Amino acid sequence: MNRYHDPSILPSEIPSESEYFDRRRVLAALAASAAMIGGGIDAAAQTGRPAVQARPAPRYTRNPKFSTNEPPNSWEDITSYNNFYEFGFNKEDPYERAQSFRSHPWNVEIDGEAEVRGRFTLEDILKPHALEERIYRFRCVEAWSRIVPWMGFPLADLIRRFKPTSRAKFVEFTTLLDPKQMPGQRTSVLDWPYREGLRIDEAMNPLTMLVVGVYGKWLPNQNGAPLRLIVPWKYGFKSIKSIVRIRFTERQPTTSWNLSAPDEYGFFANVNPEVDHPRWSQAKERRIGGNFLTSRIDTLPFNGYAAEVASLYRGMDLRRFY
Ligand code: MTE
Repeated sequence: MNRYHDPSILPSEIPSESEYFDRRRVLAALAASAAMIGGGIDAAAQTGRPAVQARPAPRYTRNPKFSTNEPPNSWEDITSYNNFYEFGFNKEDPYERAQSFRSHPWNVEIDGEAEVRGRFTLEDILKPHALEERIYRFRCVEAWSRIVPWMGFPLADLIRRFKPTSRAKFVEFTTLLDPKQMPGQRTSVLDWPYREGLRIDEAMNPLTMLVVGVYGKWLPNQNGAPLRLIVPWKYGFKSIKSIVRIRFTERQPTTSWNLSAPDEYGFFANVNPEVDHPRWSQAKERRIGGNFLTSRIDTLPFNGYAAEVASLYRGMDLRRFY
C-alpha cells in the first residue's frame, strides 16, 4: 500500500489489485532478466511495493503580461541553493535534508477576520484556481538574485473567496511547526514557526502570488512545498514557505525576522537600493549562475516592479518603513 493516501490521485489512476499483481508479475520477470544482463530494475519490483504514485502533473498557462523577458535561472540554480532555515542554515541544507519531508497530504487553515474560515485540504484550496506561470525577478536580502518561472495563482483570488471583513487590515502567514521533520526547528535561531505578513493592499496586488510549482513541476520541498508566498518586489524572506495558516488580522502581525533582528529586517522589506542593510550595501546584487563579469548588477527600486507597486507606499518614509 501507499504510505499515505494521495487525494490528488484520481481513483481511475490507481491500479486495481489484480492489475497491480499482474503488473508485479511482469515487473518481477523483467527484473529477473534485467538482473541477468546487469541492467537497472524498477524500485517497485525490488521492494515488492508499488512505487508511491506521483501527483498528476500540474496544468498551467504562461502569463507573459506579468513576466520578465530575462532568461530564467536553471532548475539546479533554483533548487539546490536555498534558504529554508527549518532544514538548516547552509544553502545546500534544504536540498540535502528536505527530501523526505511530507509535503503531501497537506491542510491549510484560514482564520481570523473573514466570513469564511476553516481547515481545508490543499486540493480544496487549489480547486477553483487556474494555475499560471510567471517569470519573476527574485531578490534575497543577502544581495543575491535570480529569475524564476514560478507557477501559482494570485493571492487576491484566494482572499476574495474567504471574504475578509472590514476589520481585516493585514494577512498573516505561518509555516508548519514540526521539529521532528524540520531539524532547524530544534534550534532557537528563530522563534518558530516562521511567520510573515502583508498589509491587505499588498496582499491584494495582482503581482502577489501563492505558488505551488516551479518550471512546470510541483514545488520541490526545499523551495517551500506544497504552498508558498511570492512577493516579487520585496526581499525574499517575505516569501514564506510551506504555509499551513493564513489569518486575517486587524493589527500588523509579528514576523519572524523582524522579531529576531528588528534593526535589520523591517515589516515592509521592499527592495530598495538606497537603504542599506546595517551590515552590507543593497545597491547591487549578485545574479546566481552568472559569470564574474556579468553577475554583479544594479539593484532596482522595488526590484524592478516600481510601476506596479510604488503607489502602495505614497507618502511613506521608506527609510523609516524599511
Ligand atoms: N520560509 C520559511 N518558512 N523558512 C525560511 O527560512 N527563508 C526565506 C524565504 N521563505 C525561509 C522562508 C528566505 S530568506 C528566502 S531568500 C527565500 O525563502 C528563499 O526561497 P528559495 O529557496 O525558493 O529561493
